[in-house]
Amino acid sequence: MAGAVQKEIAVSGVRPTGRQHLGNYFGAVKNFVAMQDMYEGYFFVADYHSLTTHPNAADLSEKSLYIALIYLACGLDPNRCTLYLQSDVPQIPELYLIFNMLAYLGELEREATFKEKVRTQPHNVNAGLLTYPVLMTVDIIIHKARKVPVGKDQQQHVEMSRDLVRRFNNLYKVNYFPEPEPFSFSDTLLNIPSLDGEGKMSKSKPDYTCIYLDDTPEQIRKKIMRMPTDSGPTAPNSEMSVYVRNIFDLLKLVSQADTVRHFEEAYNQCTIRYGDLKKQLAEDIIQYLKPIRENIEALSADENRVYEILKDGGSKARASAAQTLQDVREIIGLKNFKA
Ligand code: ADP
Ligand code: TRP
Repeated sequence: MAGAVQKEIAVSGVRPTGRQHLGNYFGAVKNFVAMQDMYEGYFFVADYHSLTTHPNAADLSEKSLYIALIYLACGLDPNRCTLYLQSDVPQIPELYLIFNMLAYLGELEREATFKEKVRTQPHNVNAGLLTYPVLMTVDIIIHKARKVPVGKDQQQHVEMSRDLVRRFNNLYKVNYFPEPEPFSFSDTLLNIPSLDGEGKMSKSKPDYTCIYLDDTPEQIRKKIMRMPTDSGPTAPNSEMSVYVRNIFDLLKLVSQADTVRHFEEAYNQCTIRYGDLKKQLAEDIIQYLKPIRENIEALSADENRVYEILKDGGSKARASAAQTLQDVREIIGLKNFKA
């Protein structure tokens, strides 16, 4: 009898740097949830990564717990995937050290995120920021993952992880690590717009530009109603401005197809009222987020359960990581006398 087909491995993480919003959900966590059955999923809280920008010990563990709680509230199931804290897996920093020898200064300095951080936090351009993509590579390959569900902004990092993996395999003449690839269920990686129409939704932007997963219905209504629009279509079937396109993009994510069609037709026939469009969008977001918000509330009252899940996931992640590290040590010729 043929053995069970090995599932492909998927890895992704979110940094515990603040509240989670629709961008995080649609760009990342929703895909994690949808991947749980088809893939062997490892989903973690990237707490080491958060230290590159948020070195504040006062609330790190609270924020990490919050991300785990969001994972669960959005539908990750510890019986169908592994959930853990990055810092609970000591093999990650060990492999990170090894992979730092494979990464070149020039390529690290060219990474868009690094350049952006040099601009935005000039007082703290630490080496961890520079080697951020190396640590991210290691997060992925420590479980020999191929699929990496992330939003568009992480694409360059995953590409770098492919380069590093190829370099490792070539240097040591092995075919050990699979080449990771960014993953999304849609044709392109998603980029959820900021509510002010300027770039992507992000928690580093003002509060009113983000819909957080635990926003109250009233907050959601307020934020959506203040989204900018334009003066309205003046000719049938005219192109949409970025502002109006953003509203429709959000509507497509949370509303029924016939609702979207109704407003598209109204736009094309120049009968649209943006106020109605935004009201509909707000109500549909509220409905969409309702179960998640309820789960967040329920889990917040049962933090011990979240700790138990992370503890259990940590030991599964360590077991998988230990195997990889042992193989790597052998491949690169590090003798192991400690065993
Ligand atoms: P933020 O920009 O709010 O700090 P993070 O950097 O913590 O978000 O992102 C966590 C995950 O969510 C990543 O996989 C990222 O690609 C995804 N993500 C964040 N913002 C968006 C967005 N606006 N659209 C799509 N995906 C996003
Ligand atoms: N860099 C990712 C972000 O900012 C978080 C992350 C860390 C990650 N390690 C990862 C994502 C490995 C995917 C795979 O959102």
